[in-house]
Amino acid sequence: MKTFILGHSKEEVLRLVPENSIRLVQLGEEKICLTRKGETVYGFEAFCPHRRVSLAQGFVTPFREVVCPLHQYRFDIKTGSVRLGDCRDLQVFSTELTDVGLKILLPDQ
Ligand code: FES
Repeated sequence: MKTFILGHSKEEVLRLVPENSIRLVQLGEEKICLTRKGETVYGFEAFCPHRRVSLAQGFVTPFREVVCPLHQYRFDIKTGSVRLGDCRDLQVFSTELTDVGLKILLPDQ
């Protein structure tokens, strides 16, 4: 497992990841997407499991789903499970908002 810290404070992370937006971030060699509901930040893989389109171009619904821009498949941003569509689940990453930034855990490749 690799640990990354984004930003230097909770306030900075809240600014970097506006609520309901999707931000693409580079962590080492890996790109992931982040979105936020309140003070909970969700991390998930950057490309749709269906046809590898960038999910940063998609949007987040009020029902805690990310919607892919190409075929509108929907994934739960907390668990990654497919809510609408026919492909594997989305990979999600563990995050923790702390006073010194956002801690993100990525599995080893
Ligand atoms: S590429 Fe994402 S739903 Fe088809």
